[in-house]
Amino acid sequence: MASTIRRAVIPAAGLGSRLLPLTKATPKEMLPVGDKPVIEHTVRELVDSGITDITIVVSAGKGLIQEHFRPDPGLVAQLRNAGKDGYADAVEEIAELARRGHITYLDQHGPYGNGTPVLNAARAFGDEPVLVLWPDDVFVSEVPRAQQLIAAYNATSSPVLALMAMDPADSHRYGVPVVKEDLDDGLLRITGLVEKPAEQDAPSHYAAIGGYVITPGIVDELREQTRRWHEHPQGEIYLTDAINAYAATRAVYGQVIDGTWYDTGNPLAYLTAQFAAALAHPDYGPSLRRLAHDLGAEPPTRSGG
Ligand code: G1P
Repeated sequence: MASTIRRAVIPAAGLGSRLLPLTKATPKEMLPVGDKPVIEHTVRELVDSGITDITIVVSAGKGLIQEHFRPDPGLVAQLRNAGKDGYADAVEEIAELARRGHITYLDQHGPYGNGTPVLNAARAFGDEPVLVLWPDDVFVSEVPRAQQLIAAYNATSSPVLALMAMDPADSHRYGVPVVKEDLDDGLLRITGLVEKPAEQDAPSHYAAIGGYVITPGIVDELREQTRRWHEHPQGEIYLTDAINAYAATRAVYGQVIDGTWYDTGNPLAYLTAQFAAALAHPDYGPSLRRLAHDLGAEPPTRSGG
């Protein structure tokens, strides 16, 4: 499928401190949700949306991510010799996914903050818009979240943020958009984002959920922050600040994503995502649903942070 956006960045250098000690040795991106590590869900979403150039920005201790996507012909041959073609196919399919997504890795360097990995990868962007997806938000949807963001970009030629309706009590966990106009099909014109406001200060009932279409103008704003960082090296570089600076003079949109969202970034939400994925599994789901029923639990329908 041809896409107007062909590049994506997955920032994967974070410590995963909210999930310690689980994430002491295992990168949070490699924790399983269902039968796949979290980051594989993100890569599949991107490849299914026509992305052919994925940069994963990593830090020390994230080698397991590369191991997961690396081709392993020796293992495949061993499995085939043992007659285990199903497993061999599954191992080969992941390498094929990485090849289709043309995954490359970049070491994160520079100031603290979620704008830094985007800037690290930005040298390759040229004039192109790119998708930025946090790897700890997993979506189950008919149309992949990335594709919904691309469609919003195609309609607006402007930066776009992925949004979900949230419980107002959760506003202190998220960036909350200031909505200027409600357009059709979940598309909103926004004038900025307030980071983690108290419930009474939240400007809307939507949360930014870790998916962005970034345009060259946003990258310019991130570079502007870096210039200031050189003068005040205790500063941090954030995407939200760049989006707000951009939105002061130009149009920015939010797209309310149609689908089910699993925020895997904190322990309860991670376990909820695991539970829901297990219940939805085509082979094991029916037995697990019976088990959940016997244990007196209602299957969850949606997770939040
Ligand atoms: C970041 C963003 C925030 C967004 C959140 C989604 O915050 O700054 O706007 O709502 O991701 O996961 P973080 O959770 O990294 O503090």
